[in-house]
Amino acid sequence: NTEQTYIMIKPDGVQRGLVGEIIKRFEQKGFTLRALELKMVDRALAEKHYEDLSSKPFFAGLVDYILSGPVVAMVWEGKGVVLTGRKIIGATNPAQSEPGTIRGDYAIDIGRNIIHGSDAVESAQKEIALWFPSGVAHYATALA
Ligand code: CMP
Repeated sequence: NTEQTYIMIKPDGVQRGLVGEIIKRFEQKGFTLRALELKMVDRALAEKHYEDLSSKPFFAGLVDYILSGPVVAMVWEGKGVVLTGRKIIGATNPAQSEPGTIRGDYAIDIGRNIIHGSDAVESAQKEIALWFPSGVAHYATALA
């Protein structure tokens, strides 16, 4: 099914110069970029994005990490992009992510795992609405 997912390159991914490589992997798979913004995140947005994790011991450190530099917020679209995007990204803990995945190739630390991808269609819709509150423009005709 054609669907959309929220993908975010975290501050370590931006700082390490991995933006182009990450976008390339999604483009080459055949997905379509629908929105992209380089931005400094404010605390309220980071806490809202990770609200399900607010009781975890690593929550404060996670929020500080997201605030530590600009992120690249993106919406990608395509058949099965939520699940396939998660596969391209690799397991949350880079110690368990396979070589060939983004985290498998570029990360070693769960607290510095480069990139976020929505885990289900429903959370993707929530996250897209949170990060792109004025909506995601559609360029389907021009790109067809
Ligand atoms: P992400 O895919 O953005 O979803 C939740 C994030 O929480 C995860 O990537 C990690 O960045 C972070 N996270 C999960 N578990 C831990 C942990 N044990 N220590 C630090 N950060 C964690």
